[in-house]
Formats: sequence, C-alpha cells, structure tokens
Amino acid sequence: MGFTEELYRRKTFGIISHPDAGKTTLTEKLLLFGGAIQTAGAVKSNKIKKSTTSDFMEIEKQRGISVATSVMSFEYRDKLINILDTPGHKDFAEDTYRTLTAVDSVIMVVDSVKGVEEQTRKLMEVCSMRKTPVIVFINKLDREGQDPFELLEEIEKELKIKTRPLSWPINRGSAFKGVYNLHRKNINLFKPSTQKVSDEIITLNDINDSELEKIVGERDAAKLREDVELIEGVFDPFSIEDYLAGDVAPVFFGSAVNNFGVQELLDTFLEIAPTPRGRETDKRFIEPTEQKMVGFIFKIHANIDPKHRDRIAFMRIVSGKFEKGKYFHHCRINKDFRFATPVTFLASDKNIIDEAYPGDVVGLYDTGNFKIGDVMTEGEDFQIRGIPSFSPEIFKELINTDPMKSKQLEKGITQLTDEGVAQLFTQQPGNRKYVGTVGELQFEVIQYRLQYEYGASCRFQPINLTKACWLRSSNKQKLEDFIRFKHTNIVHDKDDNIVYLAPNDWFLNMEISNNPDIEFHFNSEFKTERA
Ligand code: G4P
Repeated sequence: MGFTEELYRRKTFGIISHPDAGKTTLTEKLLLFGGAIQTAGAVKSNKIKKSTTSDFMEIEKQRGISVATSVMSFEYRDKLINILDTPGHKDFAEDTYRTLTAVDSVIMVVDSVKGVEEQTRKLMEVCSMRKTPVIVFINKLDREGQDPFELLEEIEKELKIKTRPLSWPINRGSAFKGVYNLHRKNINLFKPSTQKVSDEIITLNDINDSELEKIVGERDAAKLREDVELIEGVFDPFSIEDYLAGDVAPVFFGSAVNNFGVQELLDTFLEIAPTPRGRETDKRFIEPTEQKMVGFIFKIHANIDPKHRDRIAFMRIVSGKFEKGKYFHHCRINKDFRFATPVTFLASDKNIIDEAYPGDVVGLYDTGNFKIGDVMTEGEDFQIRGIPSFSPEIFKELINTDPMKSKQLEKGITQLTDEGVAQLFTQQPGNRKYVGTVGELQFEVIQYRLQYEYGASCRFQPINLTKACWLRSSNKQKLEDFIRFKHTNIVHDKDDNIVYLAPNDWFLNMEISNNPDIEFHFNSEFKTERA
C-alpha cells in the first residue's frame, strides 16, 4: 500500500467522558467489533480508584496498565483506527488535555441518567478550543435516564455546541426497545447482549410503514413518528462540513454494556470522522501529505521498574513516514536521533514496528531527551502549536529536606515535570520552586518518585496561590514595571515565560483592570485561547 492510501485509511480519535459514564466499556465494544479482542473484559480500566490514592505503587501500577492501553489500534473494513486512551481520574486531567492534542476527533460519552458532568464540561472546553470534531454517544439507555430532548438541550447549553441527533431511542429504561437510525432510516431492535455483537437490525425504509406498529407497538410507533417529525423540524439537516469544523456534534443513543447502538456509532464514525489532519507550527502549517516526517511528543511515561530508568515518549506522526532505525532531527536540542525499537500498541500488546504513518502514535524509548511538545523532523526546525499548559489549580512550594541531595532533587523535579506530571515555576532570586498541579494526588506521586527514583527528599509547603497567568505586553516598560512591583508573585515557567501567580480571583481581576497594557493569559499558548 502506498503512502497516500496508508494516510487516508487512518482515523485517530479519543474517547472522553466523566468517570463512570462508560468510556472503558465503549472502547472495549469498539475493539470487539474490530476483532482486536475476542472477549469482553480484556480492556483494563485505567481508572484510578479512590481507595488507592495513598498507595503510590498501586497508582503507578495502574498508570502502567494505562500505558499498555494508551493507544489501541485495530483494522475495521480496511480502515486503521487508532483509539487514544485518556485517564479518567480528574487528577490526571492534564494528561487527557495533552492527549487531545494528538487526536483528530473525539467521541464523548454522556451518561443518560447523569447528563453533563464536571469533567465532560472541561474536556469539551479543550475540544472547542481546538475545534476538534466531536460525536456524542449518550449511554446507558437501558436505565431510566433523562428525556432525550432535555439531554440534547442540556448538552447544547452546558457544552456550548450545537447538536444533531443521528439516532433516536424508542423508549428508555426497562421499556427501551431500540433506536431509530435517522441517518440510514432503519430500526435497530434492543436485545441485551454483553458478549456478542448484536446483529438484529430490522430495516424500515419509511417510518410511516405499518410494520413499525408490529415491531414496537402502536403507542411507541406513534411517539417515534412524533419525535422524528419534531427532530426534523427543530434541528438543521446534518452537515458533515459543520461536524468537521467542530460546529455541530452528531449524537447517538445506546447502551455500551449491552453492545447497543455501538455498531451505528462505529459505522457513522468510519463514514464521517476526519482522516489525519495537519498541525500548525510557529513557522507554517504542516500538511499530513508532506513527504518529510514530522512528529511531536504529547505524552511521556516513566518506566515503573526502577532498574530501568527509561521512559516511553509517545509521538504522534503529523506528516511523512516514520521509519525504524532512521535518523530524525530533535528540534529543541538540535541533535539527531534514531530509534532501534519503536513500538506501537495493539490492545494490550506492544509491538516493534518498522514504519508508521500520519495519525499513528509510536512509543519511543527515551533516556531523558524528550519533553512534552518536542518535535522530530527530517531537518527543518519548528515548534508545534496547540500543546499549551493550562493554569494549574493547586500550588505548593517544593522544599528540599536533604541539602546533600540538591542536585538529585533538581534533576528529578526537572525530569518529572518534563514528563508532564506537574508544572514547575521558578522564582529568582533565590531559586524558589513552585509546583502546580490539577490534583493533590500528583504531589504524593512526585514526592514518592523523587525519593524512590532519584534518592532526593522533599516536602511540599502549601502556598496561598490559585491561578497562573502567562503575561505579555507590547509595552515593554509597563511589563517591566509590573514585574518589579509584583516581584513576589512573578515566576518563570520551564520555557522561561513570565508568569504571574495570583493569590485569588479578586486580586487577579484587580490586576487585570489596573493594568490594561498587560495581557493575562490562562494558558501558555495565547493564540489558541478561547475568548
Ligand atoms: P468509565 O471508563 O467511563 O469510567 O466507565 P466504565 O466503562 O468503567 O463504566 C462504568 C460503569 O457503568 C460500569 O459498571 C459499567 O459496567 C457500567 N455501564 C457501562 N455502559 C453501561 C450501559 O449501557 N448500561 C448500564 N446499565 N451500565 C453501563 P461498574 O459496576 O462500575 O463496573 P462493572 O463491574 O460492571 O465492570
């Protein structure tokens, strides 16, 4: 198969949801359809259970599992599908945000009983920022959930995206009978089945066909016709272009655990989801069709075995062909590297690969040369846009408790933050270090790993800071004055950007209104920020 065929048969996406909505279950069902696994239960949930938050090794082990299932590739009807897994635990939300930079589209799972939840909202914000095409799968229709029209309204309002149902449920809960496929105009009857792929699809080409009564009964037939009429009247006709532009989200209803509605989702996904897309850089847009290889690192995972300090860096291929053993240029450190054992991931197996194409993710063994956002090319130098750091939510000062191990601590905290475990801000003079995370769990993980992997001991001192703002101004003097006056709250991030750490929203708003010449940004990459 030639390069172009390889490129256009790929679809790389992520499944996202609030924990417990059914992400793992849906992933597994898709793999079942794709034949990548044979039985249910083969995909381990990478959920980090609450009860284990104080057991660090358990956390790391569970994260280890999530490496194996980080990327799941399977072939289905000549297409090659790459599913990028995202951690469900909210303390690892940064990991998820970064993974979203490596996908071309997203399937968002919403629990029909609970509706839109906190993580759903945050994840959708990241998708909207990047205009990622989203398909919504409303799950657990076998439960007494909310009214489907109300759910759609809630999604539109809370997630700020237009929706367009492509399937419609016939009843829900114990009376759930199936879904009508508005796209293909056929009915898929519900038959609870956790292991097998349900294939009972009854095709009705006209919703007014009297067969409908025979299949679902008079009352439900009338209700379905009424609903469909309403849908066609209220919603605009489905437009693939609007979906691809990230302006409208097609919606499917089903029950993942019962394998229901999954086939329709997958079929439509294959039809409409985007093939690998290019990426914006600081110099120019990289088209996936370009012959020269470009890839960027979006995730780094440490080896949990302390005898092997190496890590796996996950690289998304943007253009060209990646080849085993070939030299590629590491833009940030201006050095060439080649990889003797690049791996891909197939369900729970890691396989050494010879080549990879745009849309693919390869795992590269790394001894500390990579950090998130690094770019590999065939010579050209640039940085990929769209991998911003977001303001952390919790800040603590890193205190060295063993002065003899300062070097180890410095190295350890640099490497761990390169991996994206947390963000590091440094204040001069004094070299004070502030660590920012989205969850308490990371502080425990960092402290443990510094001790265990680097032999450095530290403690974290709570500080009264709540937000990081990246500063910019066209008025150099005003910016310098601000930095001088506010020096106790001014730090530098790892890329030496100037950051203002705000004690609370009230202070921040005051600074913003008192300093109209200074821009305060809530992520490190202002160009992609939403207004
Ligand atoms: P997550 O990855 O989004 O966190 O969710 P996961 O798939 O682990 O699903 C969370 C729970 O919801 C699981 O139950 C799962 O079986 C259940 N579930 C998934 N899809 C459906 C559905 O369509 N209908 C119903 N009724 N339940 C569904 P659990 O009790 O937490 O785990 P398990 O013991 O069943 O595995």
